Amino acid sequence: MRTPVVAANWKMNKDLSEAKSLVSALLADYKKANTEVYIAPPFVFLNEVQQHIKESGIQLAAQNMNAAASGAHTGEISSSMLKSVGASTVILGHSERRDIYGETDAQINEKVKTALAADMQVIFCFGEQLEERKASTHFEVVKSQLASGLAGVDADAYASIVLAYEPVWAIGTGETASPEQAQEMHAFIREYLRKEVSVEVADQTRILYGGSVKPANAADLFSRPDIDGGLIGGASLQADDFLAIVNAAS
Ligand code: PGA
Repeated sequence: MRTPVVAANWKMNKDLSEAKSLVSALLADYKKANTEVYIAPPFVFLNEVQQHIKESGIQLAAQNMNAAASGAHTGEISSSMLKSVGASTVILGHSERRDIYGETDAQINEKVKTALAADMQVIFCFGEQLEERKASTHFEVVKSQLASGLAGVDADAYASIVLAYEPVWAIGTGETASPEQAQEMHAFIREYLRKEVSVEVADQTRILYGGSVKPANAADLFSRPDIDGGLIGGASLQADDFLAIVNAAS
C-alpha cells in the first residue's frame, strides 16, 4: 500500500501575516490521518511556517533550490539552508521553473542529485504542454523528462522521490485532466518505472497528479488506482479547500 501524499504549492503568494493566517486556519481543522501532507510556502516564510506546523504532522517543503552547496550564487538557496529551517522536502522541475526561468532537464537533474545526496526528499514535477498533447506526443515527452531529469538516480534513491505529473495545460487554468486522462498517464509512468527501474520501485513510488485539483474533482482523481495524491496550487491558498482535498486522499 502506498501512503497518499497531498502537497500545497503556495507559489509566489501571501505576505507574512497572510501566511500565518492561512497556517492557523489549516491547523484549526487539520486532523492527522494516513495521508502525508506538505506545505511549500515561499522561502522567506519557511522558518515561520515551520514554527507553527512542527508538532502537527504537516511537513515543510521548499519550492525550489540551487544545485550548488554554497558560495557565490546571489539570490539562491541551498539544500543545507533548507534543511536548517526544517524543510527536508523540495519541489523540483515545476513547469513554471522550466517555462518561465528556463530550467533544463540537465539543470533539474543536477538539483535532484544534490537534494538526494543531502538526504532530502524530492517532489519531481514533469508534464506535457498543450501542443504536445494535441500532437499526441505526451507519452514521449513525459518519458524523456523522466529519463533526463532522473538520469543517474539509483533504484534505492527512489524511496526519496515522489513523482508529480502536471500537464502544463491544466495548471492554474481551471482545466483539469479528466480522471481517465490522468489515470492513463499515471499507469504509463508506473509501467515506465517497472521497465526502466524495478518492479519494487514501480509498486512503491507515489505518483501525484497536479493541475487544477479542487475539492470537487479530488476524490474522483484520487480514487484511480495509480493516482496517489496531488500537488495543489490555487486551491491550497484557501484552508477549507485544501483540507477538503487532503480528506479526499485519506
Ligand atoms: P494549480 O497548480 O492547482 O493552481 O493548477 C498546480 C501546480 O502548479 O502545482
